[in-house]
Amino acid sequence: MRVVVVGSGGREHALAWGLAKTADVLVTPGNAGMAAHGLTCTTTPATELDADLVVIGPEQPLVEGLAQQLRAQGKAVLGPNADGAQLEGSKAFMKDFLAAAGVPTAAYGTFHEAEPALAFLETMTPPYVIKTDGLAAGKGVLVTDSLDEARADVQHKLAGAFGAAGATIIIEEGLIGEECSLMVLCDGTAVRALAPSQDFKRVGDGGTGPNTGGMGAYGPMPHVASSVVDDMMTRVLSPTLSELQRRGIDYRGVLYAGVMLTANGPKLLEYNVRFGDPETEVLIPLYGDQVAELLLATATGRLDTVDVTPSGAAVTVVLASHGYPESSRRGDVITGLATNGQLAEPLPGVTIFHAGTALDDAGRFVTNGGRVLAVTAHAVDLTTARERAYQAVGQIDFPGRVLRHDIAELATKGSA
Ligand code: AMP
Ligand code: GLY
Repeated sequence: MRVVVVGSGGREHALAWGLAKTADVLVTPGNAGMAAHGLTCTTTPATELDADLVVIGPEQPLVEGLAQQLRAQGKAVLGPNADGAQLEGSKAFMKDFLAAAGVPTAAYGTFHEAEPALAFLETMTPPYVIKTDGLAAGKGVLVTDSLDEARADVQHKLAGAFGAAGATIIIEEGLIGEECSLMVLCDGTAVRALAPSQDFKRVGDGGTGPNTGGMGAYGPMPHVASSVVDDMMTRVLSPTLSELQRRGIDYRGVLYAGVMLTANGPKLLEYNVRFGDPETEVLIPLYGDQVAELLLATATGRLDTVDVTPSGAAVTVVLASHGYPESSRRGDVITGLATNGQLAEPLPGVTIFHAGTALDDAGRFVTNGGRVLAVTAHAVDLTTARERAYQAVGQIDFPGRVLRHDIAELATKGSA
């Protein structure tokens, strides 16, 4: 079986690495770390490559309709067509969709102009939540207890700080609880939940500082019982799938529910129409050599024929470059990696997934983007996985690196 993976980040490295356990894999365009790790990368676009399965990593090509283009060529594709991708491509679309489907979510208003937006804001209570309507790489959301900061953010976004993505903004009720990323595989009819995982969105320890694309993750969440997963499936995912079907949207791919587990039950924060990053770096090791079979079954409408059983636990710690998330610095030399991009001194169960890395003229790995590496450990339990991940982090360095020290900390203490 030949699988093409579209994308170039840590998520795609993890997907390609998992798929390569049982399939031939080609990544387009991939990155330096994947190539060093023995994965074949090419700049030829997916539309010009032969494949039994194409796995589309990022949201942008999905929103732009790459999946249907590939399906029109007769390929099996993991990822929704542009109609389904609107669930992520436009938050305003998503919120209307949720209302129609009866999915619990935060109360909200949609605005194009500052005056009514500011008037609506005055009626809300903290925490205040302001979002851009369009895609902003996880950075278009402000959550704050300060009304002044919220007001300034409304002005800033509507003044064009995020370009077209921020021409429309959403102001939302602040939800309180613990966040859970529940990714489900949908084959158009059947749906299977993957292990619940947790992402750490803020840049600083203890959840401080601005939101990022994600600074680390762990899974499964030990304190999210199967009854809680069942509850999310019943209250959130099932009505969503019914609404998709009612609208004639054939959704084949990953549907990622970002859920807040509140005192009043699960409430949906957002949908993503693809695998999460960095949650995928955690999930793929849990499914080992089932990955290729699972994703092919999803793309071809045979999900009911496969078993989905995670093993052990995994933790990933993101190392980001100097200045992240406001900026990113390129060209800083990374130490502690061998020529294959993995740890110079390997540790059991540890894999280094590369995101923003490149090779310099001397053949050394250097930083080449915001999130640089996703340092991942898979072990029998969460405590061991966390220890190994941070041990590995201790072996790698580059000037100005940005990381969190508390990924999975509360969960391993049993009090998250
Ligand atoms: P989103 O891209 O919409 O998921 O927002 C990014 C992050 O902002 C979420 O993962 C939450 O941490 C936070 N957030 C978003 N919406 C809310 C809300 N209504 N209440 C509290 N936190 C939120
Ligand atoms: N980890 C959050 C996301 O992938 O959007």
